[in-house]
Amino acid sequence: MKGVILAGGLGTRLYPCTKVTNKHLLPVYNKPMIYYPLLTMVKAGLKDIMIVTGGNYAGDFLRILGNGKEFGLKDISYTYQEGEGGIADALRLAENFAEGEKIFVMLGDNILEDDITEDIVDFEKQKNGAKIFLKEVPDPERFGVAEIKNGKVINIEEKPKKPKTNLAVIGLYLYDNTVFDIIKTLKPSDRGELEITDVNNTYIARGEMTYSIIKGWWTDAGTFESLLRASNLVAKKEGFIF
Ligand code: G1P
Repeated sequence: MKGVILAGGLGTRLYPCTKVTNKHLLPVYNKPMIYYPLLTMVKAGLKDIMIVTGGNYAGDFLRILGNGKEFGLKDISYTYQEGEGGIADALRLAENFAEGEKIFVMLGDNILEDDITEDIVDFEKQKNGAKIFLKEVPDPERFGVAEIKNGKVINIEEKPKKPKTNLAVIGLYLYDNTVFDIIKTLKPSDRGELEITDVNNTYIARGEMTYSIIKGWWTDAGTFESLLRASNLVAKKEGFIF
């Protein structure tokens, strides 16, 4: 399985800090944000990882991560998303890199306490389809929100005004290689982006979606409020990274 970290965008919710660098390179406690998803992947046993970046400061990733030696990697692949086409549009760029394999996709601003090696091993055995990760949150309207019936995800709504549950779809996704065909069928949403939620709903409609509810803490870090929360959570967890 190959890993893809999505780290593009302009990070406008973090202006003025993101006027001088990419959002995913801002500090979360004592490390650049991108270190955390990268470490989640490395801990889960992935060796082949691509970073999809974009915006004005793509070169900064190379300066910070280099060839990935610090993470025990032989190298890191990078590609560049032009414009602001959304998460699914960024993922599209990893098609050649995936070489027909399954992929583990993680949003570069998501930080997870759990080690998900077991889920990765299980998904290797899952014949096809996709797997998402859910977490109960107090503010589901900020996220993709999952509805569960008889042990199956039946629908995901992106940032609903009136969420049907408090189960956020967090920014870690496991996909088979048909994900790239699904992306080609997507139409931009009202915010003009190709939505990862539309990808996930396609798998749900096919009856090919599984899920796992994560046990430890999880946060995104794309707003000042969540960035502060992320730093505090990491600071409390001694030895969390390296
Ligand atoms: C994105 C996804 C959303 C998901 C969230 C997790 O939202 O669209 O479904 O719950 O990441 O961090 P965004 O950060 O683009 O608002």
